[in-house]
Amino acid sequence: MGAKVWIDGGVIDAAAARVPVFDRGFLYGDSVYEVLRTFGGRPCFLDEHLERLAGSAARLQMALPERAAIVRATLDAIGAVGVECYVRIVVTRGSGPIGLDPSLADEPRLVVLAQPLVLPDEALYRDGVALAIVGARRNAPGTLDPQVKSGNYLNSVLAISEARRKGAYEALMCDTVGRLAEGSSSNLFAVRAGRLATPPLSVGLLEGITRRHVMAAARRIGVSADEVQLWPLDLVHADEVFITSSVRGVMPVVRVVLDRPEGETIGDGHPGPITRRVADAYLDAARVG
Ligand code: PDD
Repeated sequence: MGAKVWIDGGVIDAAAARVPVFDRGFLYGDSVYEVLRTFGGRPCFLDEHLERLAGSAARLQMALPERAAIVRATLDAIGAVGVECYVRIVVTRGSGPIGLDPSLADEPRLVVLAQPLVLPDEALYRDGVALAIVGARRNAPGTLDPQVKSGNYLNSVLAISEARRKGAYEALMCDTVGRLAEGSSSNLFAVRAGRLATPPLSVGLLEGITRRHVMAAARRIGVSADEVQLWPLDLVHADEVFITSSVRGVMPVVRVVLDRPEGETIGDGHPGPITRRVADAYLDAARVG
């Protein structure tokens, strides 16, 4: 069973889906999107993803189709795939004559891509991954707001390619003064003295839905979770580190590449006990979410 796409009012095979070249999503990255997964066939935390989509669109003064229409399209696409899915909901500002002025756009275009879910290899969860702190900086406040999940992800593309060149699984971006912000497509957590620490939104980062649920899940099992400024060296001294995102969930981190190519080991070099407990508590919430 292959990938399916809801586009122009119905679900078709992904290979047959087409977007016009005059679509502003293609021309300018003038679009917003969300990525989520299904659990037991149900889209996980769909309400929160749609809320964030609406927030992204509002910050770009972009109109969205009716919420109910997005929900229907999402469920139709998932239903057509018929197995656990990776789901990407995209809304572009629409098509129009070439020109930056957003009033040239006709109407928002909704595309929902659903494809069979492929999770990261089990070994990555078992053994942990490496992060590289990269030169690409997270957007500064006053530029494109990091809270906007837009179709313009070039910063993150540059960041992940630098990380992969350094042999790391994920990139960590700092803000313009060098504080840790987030990964190219994930949020960051450190465990210090039994408490979770994650950079505050004021540093400039996307408020991950997994981040929010991980903090809540941690508190439910008696682990404090604080928003605190973190610097690269804080990771080296952390007991445990992990990253979060909707598809990956909680991914343990055991090495961070700063200056030395071989990187620095975090804790004892193995995924830690608090990461495991928090990951389990998060999964319990996500399964019913
Ligand atoms: N990315 N930070 C950035 C920059 C992201 O792109 C993402 C998600 C996250 C984690 O957010 P959430 O927990 O809501 O998935 C943080 C998705 C997975 C993507 O673009 O594929």
